Amino acid sequence: MGARRCAPAHCGMAGLSAYRLHSDTVEGWVCNMEPETSRVVCIGGAAVDRKYRALATVRPGTSNPVTSERSFGGVARNVAENIARLGTRVSLVSIVGADDNGLALVSDLERLGIDTRHVTLSDAHATAEYVAVLQPDGELAVGLANMAIFDEITPALLRGIRPELGSAWIFADCNLPSETLHDLIGLARRQAFMLAFDAVSTPKVMRLPRDLTGVGMFFLNLDEARTYLDRPEVSPQAAAEALLARGAEQVVLTLGDKGLVAADSFGIATIAAFKAEIVDATGAGDALIAATLVAMLKDASLVEAATLGTVAATLTVESPVSVRPDLSLALLEATSSLRADQIFKRELS
Ligand SMILES: Nc1ncnc2c1ncn2[C@@H]1O[C@H](COP(=O)(O)OP(=O)(O)OP(=O)(O)O)[C@@H](O)[C@H]1O
Ligand SMILES: [Mg+2]
Repeated sequence: MGARRCAPAHCGMAGLSAYRLHSDTVEGWVCNMEPETSRVVCIGGAAVDRKYRALATVRPGTSNPVTSERSFGGVARNVAENIARLGTRVSLVSIVGADDNGLALVSDLERLGIDTRHVTLSDAHATAEYVAVLQPDGELAVGLANMAIFDEITPALLRGIRPELGSAWIFADCNLPSETLHDLIGLARRQAFMLAFDAVSTPKVMRLPRDLTGVGMFFLNLDEARTYLDRPEVSPQAAAEALLARGAEQVVLTLGDKGLVAADSFGIATIAAFKAEIVDATGAGDALIAATLVAMLKDASLVEAATLGTVAATLTVESPVSVRPDLSLALLEATSSLRADQIFKRELS
């Protein structure tokens, strides 16, 4: 069947009619989108990721031959790259060290057409780095993270961009220090701009205040929601409701291969994941955020937007890189048509 309609059978939607539906299908909606007119400012982590894969089982205390690769990561940076690839104007607000990693990271952002005017160069810290040492079969042997530089993204550092915040949508990740996250929420309450957050991890989500009034969209996974709410057994739906009750306007709570729950004051929808051939799940959440925000900027409903986000996440888990270089709205549209039946089958199984 043509399972592309965002109908209750596919979205598990409570109160679907309350959502704005501009077209019957995601494809139809993508085709009808306006040319880009808006801008997103992404604030948070930008890092260099290094992957070292051992040629034989890793032995501690000695030299291990490896193959190595470098890529760029960090939640805000990844979201910004995905947004740029989807054709929407985007700037990154972050900090890098005055070192080779930092220079390479910034020049890559410029190549992608991302506005880097507000990427600060630190003389106190090295560019954030995540190093993964993998066993020959790909299992993580040791992970090393140097993220100290993000403590420098203080409210004072953001003061310079305040005038720009009112005119754009803001996405921030919880790599930011707690006082900066609190400051952004205070600003969003006063200036009423769209502020979206990603939890990043279970320890980092605790940097957010209890009162989420002013938060327009909150992206997080179930573990992060349970930690933040201090309710280890809470169901995804009850967690989403609790986050709305704390003041978030919209919640996108992801569930890995089980999809996601999208909630706002109109109701709660569950959107199943597509069947995917997993190559590397890194970056799925970031792609989902980017595509959801781009769709919402173009006036899609929350359910339409999160469905497009799910398509972007699927494409990302099927890729070895954390941001697909071939990502585009056209690819999302084509994939959405091709995979429509799979999302339906999965939800029934
Ligand atoms: N194994 C999978 N099969 C199909 N889709 C998946 C799978 N894992 C993740 N996804 C898709 O990616 C979305 C986000 O995944 P997940 O809930 O794992 O986010 P996350 O824990 O925040 O991950 P990240 O480490 O990328 O931040 C899911 O809602 C789903 O659409
Ligand atoms: Mg995540």
